[in-house]
Amino acid sequence: MRKLIAGNWKMNGLTELSASLAGSLRRGADGLDCDMLVCPPATMISTVAHILVGSATMVGGQDCHAKVSGAHTGDLSAAMLRDAGASWVILGHSERRGDHGETDAEVKAKTEAAVKADLTPIVCVGETEAQRVAGEQNAVVGSQLVHSLPKEFQGVVAYEPVWAIGTGRTPSTDDVAAMHGFIRATLISHLGAAGQGVRILYGGSVKPSNAKELLHLPEVGGALIGGASLVDADFLAIAHAAQMVAEPPAAS
Ligand code: 13P
Repeated sequence: MRKLIAGNWKMNGLTELSASLAGSLRRGADGLDCDMLVCPPATMISTVAHILVGSATMVGGQDCHAKVSGAHTGDLSAAMLRDAGASWVILGHSERRGDHGETDAEVKAKTEAAVKADLTPIVCVGETEAQRVAGEQNAVVGSQLVHSLPKEFQGVVAYEPVWAIGTGRTPSTDDVAAMHGFIRATLISHLGAAGQGVRILYGGSVKPSNAKELLHLPEVGGALIGGASLVDADFLAIAHAAQMVAEPPAAS
C-alpha cells in the first residue's frame, strides 16, 4: 500500500510561512511514490490549497464540528473545510481530546460528518505515558478505536502515543510493530474485511533520522508529522524515506 506522509501544522503558520512551505512542497513533492498531505490551521487552508492546486500534495483540516451548521460560535463544519479547499481532516487528535475534552462519541460523530462532506478522516488514537507504564496501551487504544470509528468507517487511523508527541521520544520499533498489529486486528474485528484496507499511520517525533525504520515496519502505512512538517527540507526528507520503503529491492 502507498504510504501517506501527512503534516499536522497544529497552531502554527501565518501567511508567510504557510505560503513558503506550500511552495516548497509544490516544487519538491511531485513525482514522489507516496501520498502527500498537509493540514494547516483553518485560516490557511484556502491559501495553501490555492498554491497546491493541481500538485501532488493534498490539503486537510485539523478538526471539524459534527453538525452541518448552526449556532456553534467559533466552530467549523466539515463542508466549510471542503469549501475552503480541504479534502481530508484530522479528528480526535490527543491535543483536541486533552485541550477540549473530546470524547470518543464526539470523535465518532465528527468522523461521520466528515465522510458525509466528502472529507477523508484521519482518526487519532494513542495512550498516555502512565497508561503505557501500566501496560494498558492495548486496552486504551482498542477502546478508542471501537468507540471512535463508525462501523462503516472509510478513512485512516493514526497511532500517536501521547508521550511521543513533541518530545523527541519514540516507542521502540518492536513496540510500534506490536501496536500496529493490534490495531489491524481490532480494525478487522470492528469493521470486518474493510478493516484490512485501512491505512494505519504512526505519529510522534517522526524525523528524517528515524523515518525509514518506522516506515519500514509491517502495518505502518505512513506517518503523521508535527514539528518536522514545519521544516520543508525535513518533511520532504521523510517523504523520500517513505519512497525508499515503497520501492522494490534492487535486483542483485
Ligand atoms: P510531533 O511530530 O511534533 O511529535 O507531533 C506529532 C503529532 O502530534 C502529529 O499529529
